[in-house]
Amino acid sequence: MSPIAARRPGLWHGGDYNPEQWQEHPEVLERDLELMKRAGCTVMSVGIFAWAALEPEEGRFEFGWLDRVFDAFERNGLSIDLATPSGARPRWLAERHPEVLRVDADRRRRLFGTRHNHCPTAPAYRERVAAVNTALAQRYGGRPALVLWHVSNEYNGDCHCDLCQEAFRAFLRARYGSLEALNRAWWTPFWSRTYTRWEQVESSSPIGEGGLNGLYIDWKRFVTAQTIDFLRAEIAPLRRHAPGIPVTTNLMGYHPIELDLHALCRELDIASWDAYPAWHAPEGDPATAQNLAMLHDLTRSFRRGRPFLLMESSPGSSNWQCVARRKRPGMQRLAGLMAVASGADGVMYFQWRKGRGGCEKHLGAVVGHDGRDDTATFREVAALGRTLSGLAEVAGSQVPAEVAIIGDWQNWWALHDCNHLRRDKRDHWDFVRAHHRGFYRQGIATDIIDAEADLAPYRLVVAPLLYMVRPGVAERLAAFVERGGTLVLTFWSGQVDESDLCFLDSAPGPLRRLAGLRVEELDVLYPGEKASLSMAPGNALGLEGTWAVDAYREVVHAEGCTVLATHDGPDLGGQPALTVNSCGKGRTYYLAANPEAAFLDAFHQRLADGLALPRALDGLPPDGVCARRRRAGDREYLFLLNFAEAERRMPLPAGWTVLDGPDAVAGVCVLPSLGGAVLRRAAPEKAP
Ligand code: GAL
Repeated sequence: MSPIAARRPGLWHGGDYNPEQWQEHPEVLERDLELMKRAGCTVMSVGIFAWAALEPEEGRFEFGWLDRVFDAFERNGLSIDLATPSGARPRWLAERHPEVLRVDADRRRRLFGTRHNHCPTAPAYRERVAAVNTALAQRYGGRPALVLWHVSNEYNGDCHCDLCQEAFRAFLRARYGSLEALNRAWWTPFWSRTYTRWEQVESSSPIGEGGLNGLYIDWKRFVTAQTIDFLRAEIAPLRRHAPGIPVTTNLMGYHPIELDLHALCRELDIASWDAYPAWHAPEGDPATAQNLAMLHDLTRSFRRGRPFLLMESSPGSSNWQCVARRKRPGMQRLAGLMAVASGADGVMYFQWRKGRGGCEKHLGAVVGHDGRDDTATFREVAALGRTLSGLAEVAGSQVPAEVAIIGDWQNWWALHDCNHLRRDKRDHWDFVRAHHRGFYRQGIATDIIDAEADLAPYRLVVAPLLYMVRPGVAERLAAFVERGGTLVLTFWSGQVDESDLCFLDSAPGPLRRLAGLRVEELDVLYPGEKASLSMAPGNALGLEGTWAVDAYREVVHAEGCTVLATHDGPDLGGQPALTVNSCGKGRTYYLAANPEAAFLDAFHQRLADGLALPRALDGLPPDGVCARRRRAGDREYLFLLNFAEAERRMPLPAGWTVLDGPDAVAGVCVLPSLGGAVLRRAAPEKAP
């Protein structure tokens, strides 16, 4: 695969840099350049919140300070990821055009202030964004230092102003064609909500409409569409005046709920994200690492496996978290390597230098207020810089995955707005995470895709709580299974269509033939209530024993499937809890319960063994060790990262040599706590 930007090959290292805050201190820029080179930085993200410095008055641009930054970077061989400044607007803009400020769901317009507080519909905002983006692209598009566009910052949120309501109605007219169709889709006779004029339609509100699930979901669809439209308008001048410079926007894992990031990322060249894991928290670093790995996998999947960027990460602590815990020695390198192991071609920080004022002045930075380079943080960053430079050949390599988990925004919206599930147990991503863990712990590469994705690359697809089944989804899953794929479905699947209307058939609705069963009811248990399932003697998975079940179990009737496990207890005892059904050349498992994590781990291990899915190591990685592989043509890279509190030893797999990290002694790879190794070998003809 090609590098992120031809002008800057290798693995990127850098971070957010805010020279506009230091204009009265020219010596700081000089010192920063020296320190950046010492830290092994190559690319800095510049100008993210610099609109007021770039355009102090409407139409009057001040580029002198940014010209000097470009000049200095070019003299020093450093590159720039240049931001468009729409993440925070200048005062004059809100004073002249108050409609650029957001209106909340309770219909209150916000005051000027903070950031990420703009209306994506307001023409005045779009005009001024187009003007500043055009000016930036015209002036800097041809500069050798420019390697990437960083569009805005962490798009999120929605606006409920009159302009947005009008645009929402236009969106609905295009979607439904008539008010009758909309009334049907939203089931409006419920509590007498029937619309008789388009003007009556508006977004849900804590002081107004609530409880129409179709409205809730269509509003989120609209917000996604409107944000994408805004993003396209931001990108257009960049592509026009700076062709060939790739475009990204920094995301936040699966946040925010209102933006379908699978859809949004189709507009980008490169996916990138900001990761702020709470290292050293009571749940332990191995658990934090698994969650982080899932978010890296999600980000990699947004651009179908193309290398992504870790755009922000804290080099120290994150002062907005409940506890601003400092990273222990080694964690900087280990977390950076985990991003690379997962498919990132760069490790970047927020922030390069601590500002003197503002609420982020104590947030972790490579350089503190005293500007020193003899701090532990600086040393760790510089060490990672050397490591990344030594691993330059890894850039562009891929993480080929044969397993995918469906993590789908529209399904998330439907589950989130669904009264029936326990409120503390209905987050779509918790279920994705629970299944991801089973593969992560085995060192099996896993993509996280939406329900519309192409399934051709995969042999195993897991669809946890596929509650909403949109047109075409069941057909694609059926074709996947018939071709020989293995599908895992769970309870609370195939309940509603794309409008959140229940199927007038037993669940799992359009998936019923694939699953070979019919669901009668979902039983929801109280917190702490005990339930379990037991494996059927001699079941084909070879799993045994009784396993705890938490919160959910379904009443299921087999219709041709084979029962592999049954519920225990007086009311559901003996009824199916796990089944398998053959269809064409493949099979579908149906898990009619929410079992303990250890069960999912064992279940996914049996599936992986049965399918001989490729693992990073031949066996399972030691407890707490993350094992991941990347591949490029005739080379393969193996990352072994120890997040456990104790040292881990493992035999060095045959054919691999250590590229970075502790040398293997007598064929044994010794990983200290928070230590990691990167190995290389000539790739076999076909990945094992
Ligand atoms: C990110 C944001 C940065 C900075 C950082 C602090 O979410 O993009 O601008 O605020 O958080 O951790």
